Amino acid sequence: MRTPIIAGNWKMNNNPEDTTNFVEAVKNQLPDSSKVEAVIAAPAVDLPALLAAAKGSNLHTAAENCYFENAGAFTGETSPLVLSQMGINYVVIGHSERRDYFHETDEDINKKAHAVFANQMTPIICCGESLETREAGQAEEWVQRQVTAALKDLSAAQVASLVIAYEPIWAIGTGKTATSDQAQEICHVIRETVKSLYDEETSDKVRIQYGGSVKPANVKELMSKPDIDGGLVGGASLQPDSFLQLVNYQD
Ligand code: PGA
Repeated sequence: MRTPIIAGNWKMNNNPEDTTNFVEAVKNQLPDSSKVEAVIAAPAVDLPALLAAAKGSNLHTAAENCYFENAGAFTGETSPLVLSQMGINYVVIGHSERRDYFHETDEDINKKAHAVFANQMTPIICCGESLETREAGQAEEWVQRQVTAALKDLSAAQVASLVIAYEPIWAIGTGKTATSDQAQEICHVIRETVKSLYDEETSDKVRIQYGGSVKPANVKELMSKPDIDGGLVGGASLQPDSFLQLVNYQD
């Protein structure tokens, strides 16, 4: 059985004080981690506050990005080694905003996935097509290619433990959610891709999130789909109430 995983992706929002206040507001109402894993991915500058406030609670922590080298002359980058030493659990990699605005390539994302594992953390690997690609009927092929490139040379055990987030770019921050059937269709394609690259056991274990305008009103429906194991949530994760409704969607 795959444990559902709902992750807030704060993007470039909130300062350390906001972070502490948010965690204080949610930390005693989070689901047991064996039922639903609740995660917050916060900006690097907020991670010390996130870790301090989340300590001893059911809140799991994520960075929104990292570099693929542990140290060196890489001005402005975040070390995966240091994230791991700080106690961070997950790192989101390959978000479409990183791919589009910061020109991250499939190769960079694959290197980051290896670096995250090398530092005993778990990657949340994002993929998803643009509206143009979807309208050209190439969404499946696009996502298959992104997933294949991101997983290159990872072991079956690593892939079984990671998280893949399917986020159609046209649904991010637009209020336009993919229908649960559209989301399920591509999440199924992702699971089949993992099966063809590895085996059925691995594809049964890998957790797949849907992201793109997930909110309390649609989370239950999305989570009812067989290949959707969680959500990666931007806007609706910024308010404690809304985040709590998302992670407690089973209640
Ligand atoms: P959204 O963002 O929920 O605001 O659409 C999702 C994401 O980019 O992870």
